Amino acid sequence: MLGAVERKIGQFVSELEDKEVSALYAKLPRGKRLRAKLILRIAGSSLPVVKTAAVVEMIHAASLLHDDVIDDADTRRSKPSLNALYGNKTAIMLGDILYSKGFFELNNIDPVVARLISHAVTQLSLGELKDVSLSKTFNVDKDLYLKMIYQKTASLIEASAGAAAVLAGKPKEPFMIYGRNLGLAFQMIDDLLDITQDSATLGKPALHDFVEGKTTLPYIYLYEALDKTGRVKLQSMHARVLKPEELNWLKVQFEERQILLKCYAQAKELIDEAVELMNALGEDALSEIATEMIDREF
Ligand code: FPP
Ligand code: MG
Repeated sequence: MLGAVERKIGQFVSELEDKEVSALYAKLPRGKRLRAKLILRIAGSSLPVVKTAAVVEMIHAASLLHDDVIDDADTRRSKPSLNALYGNKTAIMLGDILYSKGFFELNNIDPVVARLISHAVTQLSLGELKDVSLSKTFNVDKDLYLKMIYQKTASLIEASAGAAAVLAGKPKEPFMIYGRNLGLAFQMIDDLLDITQDSATLGKPALHDFVEGKTTLPYIYLYEALDKTGRVKLQSMHARVLKPEELNWLKVQFEERQILLKCYAQAKELIDEAVELMNALGEDALSEIATEMIDREF
């Protein structure tokens, strides 16, 4: 069924009748298409559903193109990022083209779906701005972090699940809670993998988030667990390239205080809640996607 989504995206891109755009799009790594999978599992594979999944994946691809420029990322999914290959201007414009074509197509699906998805894209952008602002200082406010990842990541997954439910004639609320939980857990795991995976597996430099100034949940919990001297040391390491002994100190602190386990447990709790909700509705197939989300490795 994902093949139909892939073909629909291909069709939307070829309708632009621009060889350069088609060639650039062909260079983009496909990704896991989690959002599309989620939509198809909830709503089947009718034309409006496939179109919605295609539009969401185009918007998601656009947001990652922009995110890699914002994060100055040289790699994406273990390959050179588009900005690294062709420069920031090309990456930004390809993002603009993909999401504006996505929005154009969104108008031809269903007005409720269009409202849900377009609202989420505003949230996505607000979340990305918050991510940038928060990384300018050492943020230790967990609620701010949670709100930021809700907007940056969970909002589009929440809206995808809600839109799929609307198209399938199912009640949208439980599906939106399911999508929200999945999205929050997804970003928490993403932030954990930045610490636990080596750079070769991750496809980007390890501990890159902290070097970039991002104090993700593990850093917030570590800060809470440290004494005054430890906190000063941690803060002194914020937003700069770390020496090998500093990297080691960080890893030891995470290990000794079981910080990563605590974060994983928090993500797992969200997934368990989502699975329970779907089981209660007899939507067992959705549990699989939820589990994939938490057990993924790059
Ligand atoms: C990845 O975060 C980024 C996002 C999930 C959202 C990015 C959103 C925008 C750039 C807003 C603009 C939206 C459009 C449609 C153009 P991350 O950097 O934590 O994750 P990563 O490890 O995958 O880079
Ligand atoms: Mg990024």
